[in-house]
Amino acid sequence: MKVLQQFPIKSVLVTGCNRGIGLELIKYFAEQNKEKNDQPVKVISSSIGLSSELNDLLSEHIFHVELNVTDTKSVSAAVQKVSDIVGNDGLNLLINNAAIMHDDKGVLDCSDQAMKETFDVNVTGPLSVRNFQIKSIHYHFSMKVLQKFLIKSVLVTGANRGIGLELVRYFVEQNKQHHEQPVKVISCSRRLSPELEDMLSEHVYHVGLEVTDNMSVQAAVKIVSDIVGADGLNLLINNAAIMQHGKGVLGCSDQEMKETLTVNVIGPHSVVNNFHPLLKLAAECNSDTPLSCARAAVFNISSELGSIQNTKNSFTTAYRVSKAALNMLTKCQASDFIKDGIICLSVHPGWVRTDLGGPRAPLSTKESVEDIMHMITHCTEEHNGMYVRKNLVSEPY
Ligand SMILES: NC(=O)c1ccc[n+]([C@@H]2O[C@H](COP(=O)([O-])OP(=O)(O)OC[C@H]3O[C@@H](n4cnc5c(N)ncnc54)[C@H](OP(=O)(O)O)[C@@H]3O)[C@@H](O)[C@H]2O)c1
Repeated sequence: MKVLQQFPIKSVLVTGCNRGIGLELIKYFAEQNKEKNDQPVKVISSSIGLSSELNDLLSEHIFHVELNVTDTKSVSAAVQKVSDIVGNDGLNLLINNAAIMHDDKGVLDCSDQAMKETFDVNVTGPLSVRNFQIKSIHYHFSMKVLQKFLIKSVLVTGANRGIGLELVRYFVEQNKQHHEQPVKVISCSRRLSPELEDMLSEHVYHVGLEVTDNMSVQAAVKIVSDIVGADGLNLLINNAAIMQHGKGVLGCSDQEMKETLTVNVIGPHSVVNNFHPLLKLAAECNSDTPLSCARAAVFNISSELGSIQNTKNSFTTAYRVSKAALNMLTKCQASDFIKDGIICLSVHPGWVRTDLGGPRAPLSTKESVEDIMHMITHCTEEHNGMYVRKNLVSEPY
């Protein structure tokens, strides 16, 4: 309350107040209002429905507003009510407390649906609640090593252009130089570009893959299973992603947030879970090989824009959020899959001249892919779960 007195907070809105921490926050403010009844804080509790505990707390200065953070109509209606309550003073403090946590037992147990629902409530919800911008709200808120390590197969998503296409080109060139021991290169994309089509050959396959469509992912697993056979899949590179150019938090629509999380997080989650048996098979076949990409590995192509610590502005909010989430997903995968002999890394490929990176980027796709290949051929057990850039240098979360 010292802080409340020092900076007179006139109003506070808390989401998810029916129970738990949200309810306790309302109790706290209610107690403070009793002690300092000359300067009461307008406490606006919000939740879906009203619990009896919360109902008991309502009073002259403690309000309740119905609010489902995943429902834009509900958010708009709540903004109107809160606006009426706070009037010209606006809202001082918004506490985004509402959240859910599914009780899954690890990455393989976490369904795409659970991931979607969790993002809807825990990420898109708080973003949607930004609509509470009532007046005074401020949101202070090389192939040598490939031979040595014997990578037999690699799968690249988003392979029809950009970094993904260059990764395929790299492996194709290596196969030309080392034709006695070709790598099975499985390029996946939802469309086949002429450049990718030109590269298809005996050892370079194309599999249609829309990472957001579970049926497409499952169909791809069947085809890849036939391609790799009993050797399994050594290396899965989750490269496909989107970045829309929303301008900051307020410029980022719920739709943009949803689409970006769906492609950049749920996509890699679904792809890895579905391809896990093939990765595990490769790890078992190479059980005498040290943990590495030659045994079994997942490379999640992340971005430095996903570093929370290094974030100085909100440009491309949804993309930043998605890559930060991808980094956490990588940690979870690393923790769950190490026992299966699979290592997982989050990799920043540098700022690269592609459709996504734009023409001003300093790196060509060739330079970026050389850096990625160095990481592929040098990562070991000690890099499992890490978020890295060129030369496997650790990137701050
Ligand atoms: N370029 C950079 O500066 C930079 C920097 C940091 C990180 N990255 C990361 O590097 C990776 C590759 O980026 P890039 O620059 O090469 O991007 P890009 O040129 O825009 O290519 C993106 C690729 O992702 C595919 N894709 C998008 N949505 C998909 C979906 N739903 N299902 C299947 N494929 C889908 C695209 O296929 P379509 O052609 O069908 O759309 C395309 O092949 C991304 O993960 C990106 O976040 C890039």
